[in-house]
Amino acid sequence: MDDTTRQAAEELVARMSVEEQALLLSGDGWWRTHGIERLGLPAISVSDGPHGLRKLQGLFGDSVPATCFPTAPALAATWNPALVREVGVALGRESQASDVQVILGPGINIKRSPLGGRNFEYFSEDPLLTGRMAAAYIDGVQSEGVGTSLKHFAVNSQETERMSTSSDLDERTLHEIYLSAFEMAVRASQPWTVMSSYNLVNGVHASENPALLTDILRRQWGFEGFVVSDWGGINDRVAGVAAGNNLEMPGSGAHNRQKIIAAVHEGRLPREVLARSASELVAVVLKAAAARRPGATFDAEAHHALARRVGAESIVLLKNEAEVLPLRAGQRVALIGAFAKLPRYQGAGSSQVNPIRVTQARDELVALLGAERVTHAAGCDDEGDTTEALLAEAARTAAAADVAVVFAGLPDSYESEGFDRRSIDLPPGHVRLIEAVARTQPRLVVVLLNGSAVSMPWLAHAQGLLEAWLGGQAGGGAIADVLTGRVNPSGKLSETFPVNLRQTPPYPDFPSRSGRAAYGEGLFVGYRHYDLRGIEPLFPFGFGLSYTRFAYTGLHCSAASFDADGGGSVEVAVTLKNVGAVAGQEVVQLYVHERAPALPGPVNELRAFGKLMLAPGEEGTLRFTLGPRDFAHYDPRLQAWSVHAGVFELRAGGSSRDLPLQAALEVQARPRVVRPTRSSLVQDFKPWPALYAELVRALGFANLLEDEAASATAGLTPEQVIAARKARVATLAFVNEMPIAKVPAFSHGALDDARLDRIVALT
Ligand code: BGC
Repeated sequence: MDDTTRQAAEELVARMSVEEQALLLSGDGWWRTHGIERLGLPAISVSDGPHGLRKLQGLFGDSVPATCFPTAPALAATWNPALVREVGVALGRESQASDVQVILGPGINIKRSPLGGRNFEYFSEDPLLTGRMAAAYIDGVQSEGVGTSLKHFAVNSQETERMSTSSDLDERTLHEIYLSAFEMAVRASQPWTVMSSYNLVNGVHASENPALLTDILRRQWGFEGFVVSDWGGINDRVAGVAAGNNLEMPGSGAHNRQKIIAAVHEGRLPREVLARSASELVAVVLKAAAARRPGATFDAEAHHALARRVGAESIVLLKNEAEVLPLRAGQRVALIGAFAKLPRYQGAGSSQVNPIRVTQARDELVALLGAERVTHAAGCDDEGDTTEALLAEAARTAAAADVAVVFAGLPDSYESEGFDRRSIDLPPGHVRLIEAVARTQPRLVVVLLNGSAVSMPWLAHAQGLLEAWLGGQAGGGAIADVLTGRVNPSGKLSETFPVNLRQTPPYPDFPSRSGRAAYGEGLFVGYRHYDLRGIEPLFPFGFGLSYTRFAYTGLHCSAASFDADGGGSVEVAVTLKNVGAVAGQEVVQLYVHERAPALPGPVNELRAFGKLMLAPGEEGTLRFTLGPRDFAHYDPRLQAWSVHAGVFELRAGGSSRDLPLQAALEVQARPRVVRPTRSSLVQDFKPWPALYAELVRALGFANLLEDEAASATAGLTPEQVIAARKARVATLAFVNEMPIAKVPAFSHGALDDARLDRIVALT
């Protein structure tokens, strides 16, 4: 936010009455802010995203036609931030054309379980991939003078009891897993707005959580925009304003406005706090109003083409036995399944776009291969239900062709905003269809259309498998491009696909139904869980095949050691070669493994990635820069990120489970001293030897302070020496782990409470 806009906002707000300031903090209906005519302050409009504009024409009416881009997991599966930025630019242009100033996205919550009802709206299980995608999306949209709303802040993982459940988790997990992506996106791209989530975090509503909305978001990360509540997410409005929540959505008319005004008049809400909140909002309004482009238009054809390009790059080739794909010249192809003609291409709920047009895989394949080579049998209806007659017809159609491609996945009724999935299985009708076709046609390819991981007990029947996600309005063309080899697949899974639900991190405690969701798996979400516990998933995070092959040939680190306190960085170069027959892109992933962590942590953590296009026989290098934060963990005792000195392994390759290149790096860092408090233990005073000694002496164990070798052993038998040593070890443990608050009682008053306070103050 530039200073001139900020100042202009402050000046405007200073001219407003308390009533006017309070008016601004609640929406004018569902999708607009209030303007103040007397002061020339305009209103701005907001509309849903994230993967397309959803500008409603009435409250529940259709939204204006807009390009429906691939959904978030698909965008993330491209591992290509530049491409996601292009999508952002297109969304910005469509928003300008509809006179919308803020698009409500991206959604970046971390996926705890494949059962999460809104997983199709979120990028990944990994904070780095999520954060990079979010930053690219925001950069793209905002480059067009349209704001974004980074949502849902924070720890919003389940739809069940979504407005009332408390996400209960420890500080380290909060920072490392659930806040990291928000932090990256805020620091890198300054979204104009952040949307607080419906849930509570450790018992405090996210919409009125001062630690989240002020201490962390604004003070630590430097957020400059305004915070908007999720729709209907306000609990105590006055507490929300005080905590840093600027805008209530939708507006509640006089209901909460009166409460704010009363709180100011009664001195419960300082006037400056209200004014600051209004200024933060007005600054964004002024910025957005200045960036409006009345009469703007956009190129719908170009956006459709972009949606197809992104869709194709998001498709993950999961299996390709006997090189069943790409389809060969002259082969006759039987397309099976209702989704081949009526695809599922986006999720249900507030993100549902009214697409400008939708392409079918069948039409697109006919266009590419010719009508004579393509047949189709529905095999089931669009809800996945089937009959013996439909199955028999599908099997016959498949048998008459050279290859069968079955379209399967999840119907709308299986995954939507508002509820969580009950299982990770496909509809039984889809499974029966795959099995029926496999009986007559061994050259079988399955194309999946789904918003999150599914189980695949039928996998052995399929020679080929494409994960095509909810691929947006041009998804049909994107699938045709990959099936025919016009596009060599380069997507990689943005989330782990488990064998079954029992393998998943929070199982069986997801979704929680008790009002409190205990995040018992802690840091071990996604691949962090599978790696730690040595569980073999169906397909690991980061996995994806290509029609070519890549050989990883070299990993070079710019230094053998790195001083994390020096604030510098280390360069890592990864070299790979296309050793197959066609050109293709590879996503290179760089993970960091800490050999002897100070606190228990994940085995490997993704710290960098990049994508490279290589011609057959070509070798290329990707360079990554790692800094101190890439080796740090969040230390709850320090309430800060901290690096523990030691050896870290850099591991590079093509998936989280295929990391052929490794190099060791020695990381230096000074140990960070935690300043003791009244709740500290005696051992926490060791860095202050005199104070430590005073505490130990007060407990009556001055002998422990002597060097062990010096303690008298003369005249003792060897057994007695051993017994004395054991006793000393046990006593030391007792003393060291004694909370200092107990020392005065143990010292019989020799060290009183006043002296204890003094000792703490002397550290
Ligand atoms: C959703 C948000 C959405 C808002 C406005 C809420 O129910 O959680 O993601 O932006 O509605 O439609």
